[in-house]
This record gives sequence, structure tokens and C-alpha cells, in this order.
Amino acid sequence: MRVVSGIQPTGKPHLGNYLGAIRNYVAFQDQAEAAGGVSLYFLADLHAISLAHDPAELTANTREMVATLVACGLDPARSVLFNQAQVPQHAELQWLLSGTARMGWLNRMTQWKDKAGKNREGQSVALFTYPVLQAADVMLYQATHVPVGDDQKQHLELARDIAQKFNNDFCTDAAPVFTLPEPIIPPEAARIMSLRDGSAKMSKSDPSDMSRINLTDDADTIMTKIKKARTDPEPLPSEAKGLEGRAEAANLAEIYAVLAGISLADVLRQFGGQGFGQFKPALGELLIEKLAPINLRFNALRQDTAALDAILRDGAARARALAIPTLDAAYAALGLLRG
Ligand code: TYM
Repeated sequence: MRVVSGIQPTGKPHLGNYLGAIRNYVAFQDQAEAAGGVSLYFLADLHAISLAHDPAELTANTREMVATLVACGLDPARSVLFNQAQVPQHAELQWLLSGTARMGWLNRMTQWKDKAGKNREGQSVALFTYPVLQAADVMLYQATHVPVGDDQKQHLELARDIAQKFNNDFCTDAAPVFTLPEPIIPPEAARIMSLRDGSAKMSKSDPSDMSRINLTDDADTIMTKIKKARTDPEPLPSEAKGLEGRAEAANLAEIYAVLAGISLADVLRQFGGQGFGQFKPALGELLIEKLAPINLRFNALRQDTAALDAILRDGAARARALAIPTLDAAYAALGLLRG
């Protein structure tokens, strides 16, 4: 079992990242260990330069993101925790895979279409080839399981297509170079929505901080954001079908269910018939209770930049050792002479 996943160190990690991905990283850390496998989690800092960015902020965010992942329960002694920039094999493999990936495949990526909007000509080449680097990220380690939120599904399907085509074009059936990665999307909380707009996903890049709960928000901020979250005037229904067409209400009820570890039906059994004046404070309290320990650990860790850098240095050394055999096999399969 090889578990691999990444998160971009742009902006602050939020509740969507936590419920959709990070809590599953922690679960897979245990599962991989129990199965005698390895889990690798990395900060996708190379992906972060595909959009305009401030270099000093990227450095600071990279350290903050390591502190967040450790605060959420990733243990650098049990998982390999690193940033892409210290493992040049990611960028090398991306180039090798660029010969296999097709323009048409990349043109179909919804994230490219969303982020580029009407101004495709003005985008960086990196934004367009971003999914090829993402494919390299997982293929480099022969990933079997890739825990992600719903928005990364298409990128992982592309990674499977690239792996398949490379194996078909350059390998014998008996000795494929790449494993086909399997996206692991949680049955619930795979797509947490913005607190301001139930049709948009909660995102680090939303200009409004009120649209998301950051994992670093303090108790007062969390309660204020939940109380101001957009809802409708109806009370909560007693059954899930009553949430149809009520995206904001459904989102808040789902967040409650996942955090409390109960089903949506149970949440509605408990709160059905009550208005948001009653439900929101209960949700705010639950969030504060669940996020407080993460917040505490994060604040203790974030100051010690030397310790955070050491975690990344050590993780990168382990990642490089795991990456080299696959990269060598890819060079060889392509017929590239290296002395
Ligand atoms: P990123 O940094 O946008 O998000 C990190 C993880 O959080 C999940 N996520 C969400 N889940 C539920 N609800 C939301 N609102 C929400 N927002 C984000 C994402 O699905 C993701 O799992 N391209 C990736 C980073 C990446 C990567 C990889 C991931 C680079 N290489 C290889 C997996 C494997 C990204 O930008 O994620």
C-alpha cells in the first residue's frame, strides 16, 4: 500500500481541506502502517507557482502548512512529509510524462477552464501543464491510494490515463513502469461549500475570508463566521429529502454530521423543525470543540521554523530515496542514455 497526496501551500488551510482530505491523510497514515506500506504527504509548492504569487508568502505558507498537517495528526516519524521543491525528481518526471500527456486531455480539465476563464492566452504554461506534474507526484512513488476531495478526481483520472499510455507505449505487459493510482474520495464531506454561496466550493482563493473556516481561526472568529453564514429562512427539515434545493442548509448540516461522527439523518432527527437561530450556535460550538486542539498544537509548532524545516529536510531525503528507482526506470523505458 502506497498512499500519496498533496496540498498546495497557498493561503490558509480550511475546513474543506480538513474534512475532504487531511483527516483522511491521518486515517491512511494508520492504515498504511498496519498494512506494512508507506504514506507520503507533500506540500505542492511547485504547483503554487502556476499562479501569481509572492515568494516570501510562499515560504511562510509552506512552513505554516507543515505545522498545520502535524497539528492535524500527521506524524513525520510515521509518514513521509516533504515539499516538492526539495525532491527534484517530481519536476524531472513531469518532463518525461509531457511526452505522453496529450494537449486534448489537458484542454478538457475543468480546473484549467475555471482558473483560466476567458483569458487562456494570458495564463502561465505551468497552469496548463499542472495536471502532468500532479500525475508525476503520484506515479513517482507507485501510489496505490490517493486520498483527495472531489475536485481532484478528474486530475487523478488523467494520471491514470498517462500511466496507462506510458506503460502501453514503452513497457512490456510483464514489466509496466507505473502503477495506476486510485483516487480515494470520502463518502461524505468530499465537497464542502462556501459559507457565503452554497453553489461554490470552500476555497483558499475565495477573496472573502467569511466564506471559509480556516483551521487557524480562533473561537470567536469561528462563531461569527457560522452565525453570518448564508442560509434560508426555513427551519431544518426532519429528513434529507427536505434539503433538496437548499445548498447552504445542506452544507451546514453535513459539516455538523461529519464533525460529530453521526449520519445526516441523525442530525436532522435531532435538529429537524428548529431554525438556524438554534442550529448555528450548536454547529459553532461543535466546530470550536473539534478545532481547538488543532489550533493549540498549530500555535505551538508554527514559531519553531528550524524544527519545521528539519521535518521537511528529513522527509525530502526519504522521498528522494523512494522516487529514484521509478524515475530511473522511466528514463530507461524511454531510451534515454544516462552514462
Ligand atoms: P488543494 O491544495 O486545492 O486541496 C488539498 C486537498 O483538499 C481538498 N479540498 C476539499 N475537499 C472538500 N471540500 C472542499 N471545499 C475542498 N477544497 C479542497 C482537495 O480535493 C485536496 O485533496 N492539485 C491539488 C494538490 C496536489 C495533489 C497532487 C493532490 C498536487 N499534486 C497529487 C493529490 C495528489 C490541489 O490543489 O489541492
